[in-house]
Amino acid sequence: MLAAVSDARAPGSTERPRGGLPDARAPGSTERPRGGLPDARAPESTERPRGGLPDARAPGSTEHVRRNRAAWDRWAAEYAGPGLDNWAIAEPCWGIWGIPQRQAGVLPDAVDGLDSIELGCGTGYVSAWLGRGGARPVGLDNSPAQLATARQLQDRFGLRFPLIHASAEQAPFADASFDLAISEYGASIWCDPYAWIPEAARLLRPGGLLIFLVNSVLLMLTIPDTDGVPAAERLLRPYFGMHRFEWLDDESVEFHLCHGDMIRLLRGCGFQVEDLLELRPGPGATTRHPLATLEWARKWPCEEVWKARKLATSASR
Ligand SMILES: C[S@@+](CC[C@H](N)C(=O)[O-])C[C@H]1O[C@@H](n2cnc3c(N)ncnc32)[C@H](O)[C@@H]1O
Repeated sequence: MLAAVSDARAPGSTERPRGGLPDARAPGSTERPRGGLPDARAPESTERPRGGLPDARAPGSTEHVRRNRAAWDRWAAEYAGPGLDNWAIAEPCWGIWGIPQRQAGVLPDAVDGLDSIELGCGTGYVSAWLGRGGARPVGLDNSPAQLATARQLQDRFGLRFPLIHASAEQAPFADASFDLAISEYGASIWCDPYAWIPEAARLLRPGGLLIFLVNSVLLMLTIPDTDGVPAAERLLRPYFGMHRFEWLDDESVEFHLCHGDMIRLLRGCGFQVEDLLELRPGPGATTRHPLATLEWARKWPCEEVWKARKLATSASR
């Protein structure tokens, strides 16, 4: 059966989301992926528009937001330690293998003077990195508990920027307020792409840059349902129609699109795709995150970073 009942609530297990999260650098991380139901079996699978721009405020965008808020409020305490570690590092490191910025090239060379918004900021370390680089960051998150951690870390590190409690599918900002929108396993996997990407397009100024890091499509197709078992070397679920993933054992909902659908969505929202970085760890890389073995991740990307530029004029809107 495709959907596994995970043991996330079994005695001794740490209850965490399965989406790949960059807390691998935190000692003791036992985060693991779990299999899910592609949206072909999800009740909302027909709500997704294929062409054009959906209304980010459409009814139906709120049910998963509420579920993910509850999940993240419960998980938040486990993310305070990894958040602290990531606030403390001098050079940004990305993904479960902690690939340094100078190798990964996720951020632009210069962020000085940019108005940035982090969509699903969690503990806020990406915005802290941007702030240290001279940007004017804003962090937005759906979970009050995660934002409380971010505030504590702001106090601890003496670096403050606005932290907004909202869903990235309905961001309370005027059109064209930002130069950079970024999401590292935030809105990029926890929001419906057909809602949050149009919203990111609305928030960005012409010429603004959208950067988001997600589990790779290959990983989402090969990750077994079994707890703690890394990605397989064969495809375990369908590629076509991938969109909404939900789990039998907790209330959270994730979203992952296949590449063709993502490109069409970005272009439909007035973006030009500039890059798709497929993160590859170095030969000696380590991770505590059991999403994929190093051997696997050296052969196939387990994480990918999209970079898309909002065109000055959007013919499609
Ligand atoms: C793993 S964290 C990613 C943030 C950051 N990179 C980190 O690891 O702390 C995922 C975050 O996405 C947030 N999130 C989930 N759904 C969201 C939504 N609809 N709008 C904004 N944030 C959301 C969660 O509350 C959580 O803080």
